[in-house]
Amino acid sequence: MPKTKLMLLGPPGAGKGTQAERITEALEIPHISTGDMLRDARDRGTDLGKKAAEYMNAGELVPDDVVIGIVEERLEQDDAQDGFVLDGFPRTLNQAEALDGQGVKLDAVLSLEVSESEIVRRLSGRLHCPECGAGYHKSFDPPQTEDVCDECGHQGLERRKDDQPEVIRERMRTYEENTDPLKSFYADRGVLVRIDGEGSPEAVAGRIAQAIDAV
Ligand code: AP5
Repeated sequence: MPKTKLMLLGPPGAGKGTQAERITEALEIPHISTGDMLRDARDRGTDLGKKAAEYMNAGELVPDDVVIGIVEERLEQDDAQDGFVLDGFPRTLNQAEALDGQGVKLDAVLSLEVSESEIVRRLSGRLHCPECGAGYHKSFDPPQTEDVCDECGHQGLERRKDDQPEVIRERMRTYEENTDPLKSFYADRGVLVRIDGEGSPEAVAGRIAQAIDAV
């Protein structure tokens, strides 16, 4: 597959992170996830991380100036020059315009379309390893031994802090208000591709691969 500049768009739990990992392996391009970068800053206790944590724990968006700054810096690195998959950015019209302003032209914006009931099922069972970051789902993608990470053997898988029902509701509201309008922004530029995000991760990955081939 050719190296490509891609963005995954979709509500919380749509499978952006899951599919981004697969695209990264197939195309050998970096996975740039603002959620992962902000969680990393929060866990390291940096000033930026402490500020971001207040918003993330409440299910709200971290202010544009903070996020735009970290993405601009990341996109300037050598490994992102020929292609990348953006996951969770842009999330507001301001962020999309900042990306335009940086001269970054996306080849495709892949919009993962998933029903609300499926989102709730996915987020209510999501687990991760606090040691190495590997991700699981208690029903759809469980570890081989219950509560033990397949990758590093750590015992004690955890739920994400923002996967509590009231925070999930706020994240979905925030998505509808701020991020869903990006679909028409990118449709107007002719790069929006709607992908049926339901079914197994393999089925969704197959649809994405077809869409990327057509770019
Ligand atoms: P972020 O980390 O980006 O969270 P999100 O958009 O809410 O998305 P998720 O990571 O929850 O879900 P996902 O779509 O990646 O699904 P996943 O693959 O994990 O952002 C977190 C917070 O950071 C935000 O709320 C905000 O505060 C802040 N932030 C981040 N970016 C920002 C920005 N640009 N501006 C401002 N603030 C920002 O899948 C979910 C589960 O389902 C997993 O358990 C997985 O195993 C399972 N699963 C996946 N696919 C399937 C399938 N096909 N079938 C069955 N199970 C599946």
